[in-house]
Amino acid sequence: MPSADEIRDGQRATWAGLSAGWEKWDSVIMDQLGPVGAAIIERLDIAEDQQHLDIAAGTGEPGLSIARLSPKGRVVLTDLVAEMLAIAARRAREQGIANIETKVCSAEDLPFNEATFDSVSVRFGYMFFPDVAKATAEFARVLKPGGRLCSSVWVKPEENAWTTIAMQAIATETAVAPPPDRDGPTMFRCAAPGYVSALYEGAGLRDIAEWDVDVELVARSPEQYWEMISEHVSLAVAALQQVDEPARERIRANAIAKVSAFEKDGKVRVPGVARCIVGTRADASAPCGAGGGTRTPMPEGTRS
Ligand SMILES: C[S@@+](CC[C@H](N)C(=O)[O-])C[C@H]1O[C@@H](n2cnc3c(N)ncnc32)[C@H](O)[C@@H]1O
Repeated sequence: MPSADEIRDGQRATWAGLSAGWEKWDSVIMDQLGPVGAAIIERLDIAEDQQHLDIAAGTGEPGLSIARLSPKGRVVLTDLVAEMLAIAARRAREQGIANIETKVCSAEDLPFNEATFDSVSVRFGYMFFPDVAKATAEFARVLKPGGRLCSSVWVKPEENAWTTIAMQAIATETAVAPPPDRDGPTMFRCAAPGYVSALYEGAGLRDIAEWDVDVELVARSPEQYWEMISEHVSLAVAALQQVDEPARERIRANAIAKVSAFEKDGKVRVPGVARCIVGTRADASAPCGAGGGTRTPMPEGTRS
């Protein structure tokens, strides 16, 4: 089993390599993940002077949208990988957003004082952290009492055709079985219902709720679908490096044939489902870690 440092080193190399693909396909990725960012923002109750921390911010979302909603506030975008944050900073400049700063750091070791932020977001970062409990304790620590944490993870592969089509095509030519270590950094590691809620409870958060959000990857054509997936999805990029050119061509043809079933109105529309999880740091009168974690019922319009 790799150590936490080895996992972080691997993630650093992986995401530095994927950063060009994320920049190239920015608008398609942001449209796909937009509903999840919107769901996170809705539950964070952003004020115009919010002090917000975005963890694993990558190319900047949802942190940049939060900065726009909070013109008198400040958003700190953090990520393990400088190349991803450089894209976030470029996107902020292009969008005229000045109230942000970027900081390269790992989620489990945050360089911020206790009770610094009104809110914390983690969109599709949890599954890559070597020690998810330690990371959650850090998020709770830097939140002000009453502040909220909201994150998102992918639910099971069967509900995420946008990625499973590609992975099944790859599996016909190469082994893409998940690594034997179930705590390793893979896309569906946090998929079990209640997995992230239990981490929140362990960190002493209260008013915890989970709900599912539908997403849709929209591409111009099956060919464009394959081009984007093969250039920005970590498992796909890694697996394709293991095979020769003829095998890559067979995988491409297989994925394009399968995704054609999702053509509709002149576009390819492939569905997926994410899960959002919200929780609140207990007030000063009920300190974190005091075992006061409670769950609230699922919000309206959610799916289980
Ligand atoms: C799927 S991207 C999500 C980016 C962005 N939040 C979004 O939703 O568009 C995952 C990000 O997690 C980052 N990451 C991986 N391991 C990390 C760690 N230990 N600490 C902080 N960030 C990490 C990667 O560098 C990458 O930018």
